[in-house]
Amino acid sequence: MIRPVFLLPVLFAIHASSQSTRPAASVASQYSLSTSTTLPFPQATLKNPSTQSFITSNWGLAKGRIQNGASNLEFVNDPFTDAPAPGSTSNSSAPVLQVQYLEGSFQANNASGAQFYAMWNSSGSAFQSMLVTYEVAFDADFDWVKGGKLPGLRGGPDPNHCSGGDQANGTNCFSSRLMWRPDGDGEVYAYVPKVNGICGDTGVMCNDDFGISLNRGSFVFSSGQWNRVTMLIRLNNPTNVANGQVILYFNDAQALEHNNIYFRSADVIAVGGLYFSTFFGGDDPAWAPTNLTHTYFRNFQLFAGTSPSDVQGSKVKSTAQGRMQMLTALAGPVIIAFSVLLGLFI
Ligand SMILES: *[C@@H]1O[C@H](CO)[C@@H](O)[C@H](O)[C@H]1NC(C)=O
Ligand SMILES: *[C@@H]1O[C@H](CO)[C@@H](O)[C@H](O)[C@H]1NC(C)=O
Ligand SMILES: *[C@@H]1O[C@H](CO)[C@@H](O)[C@H](O)[C@H]1NC(C)=O
Ligand SMILES: *[C@@H]1O[C@H](CO)[C@@H](O)[C@H](O)[C@H]1NC(C)=O
Ligand SMILES: *[C@@H]1O[C@H](CO)[C@@H](O)[C@H](O)[C@H]1NC(C)=O
Repeated sequence: MIRPVFLLPVLFAIHASSQSTRPAASVASQYSLSTSTTLPFPQATLKNPSTQSFITSNWGLAKGRIQNGASNLEFVNDPFTDAPAPGSTSNSSAPVLQVQYLEGSFQANNASGAQFYAMWNSSGSAFQSMLVTYEVAFDADFDWVKGGKLPGLRGGPDPNHCSGGDQANGTNCFSSRLMWRPDGDGEVYAYVPKVNGICGDTGVMCNDDFGISLNRGSFVFSSGQWNRVTMLIRLNNPTNVANGQVILYFNDAQALEHNNIYFRSADVIAVGGLYFSTFFGGDDPAWAPTNLTHTYFRNFQLFAGTSPSDVQGSKVKSTAQGRMQMLTALAGPVIIAFSVLLGLFI
């Protein structure tokens, strides 16, 4: 006979596990992201030229073209039909998007991976919050090397900056992608203004020239199987308060959450859509794979809403970046004046 006292831990365990995973649609509904869209995939596999035209015609590309690595894309058969992401309902007979990275390639160029910005304009309104979810797989023998970029979200009127060392300044753009690091460690990798000492926060790593890393290793990608990532972004509001949110779920379990992100200093920045961006690097050959390798993607879904973050946050004090910009602005005239004086007297 089983007495109730023995059942209690079991009930708690069931309760705990049902609380610890959240499907993307449930997160979207919690944050009232009431419109959604799915990137269409073809019914059958496609060779490269047809893959390019399929994406260009169906995915709402902001620039009407694939920026980098168009020839690295093909719709292929699912290479891991026996290894879906936990809880997946994916159709293993449907094609998936394969991205190739050439031997020795690194950086956002035409040899390593691919990049494009898929704007989402279906509602006509400026989105203040967005959730992206997709599945990603890596070749079974994938060499992580030092790391690489994975798709995320971006926004703002400037479609060219906020990556590759071009900084976010609060009025131009922001980006929030993912990265893999050595051994498959995952992180969120964001180009946002660095304010209120965020670089000193637990789990935050800053690099003066590039993006900030959030919680490196808080989740771990497995090669040779599908992994699901879901990232929610809610823009800071009002624009002088650093209360923006980034929450990441890996295989539907929450891996990280930040509630003090400063995406923007002006309303001109809204969330634009999917920033498909994947390559090895980094900006030097130490990041490059030593052999041709691949990743695979499927089930891209976006959910969006018109309400920004409503969590408590601190007003933005001064920004180190603002001070740097002032110094740089001052340095120019000083150097010119000095050179003129030198020219006059030598
Ligand atoms: C699975 O995908 C294949 C290929 O695109 C398609 O023919 C089939 O109808 C799909 N099955 C379901 C249940 O959607
Ligand atoms: C989406 O809207 C932006 C800003 O209004 C515009 O520049 C872009 O061309 C639009 N993209 C599409 C695919 O309609
Ligand atoms: C990539 O290829 C496209 C199209 O062929 C070309 O316009 C672009 O300049 C190339 N980009 C780089 C970084 O080489
Ligand atoms: C922000 O960066 C953009 C380039 O992306 C530049 O045109 C603009 O002047 C910058 N604004 C400030 C306030 O620095
Ligand atoms: C390089 O990659 C190709 C294609 O994926 C594979 O067939 C080959 O075995 C790899 N070579 C080495 C040395 O790993």
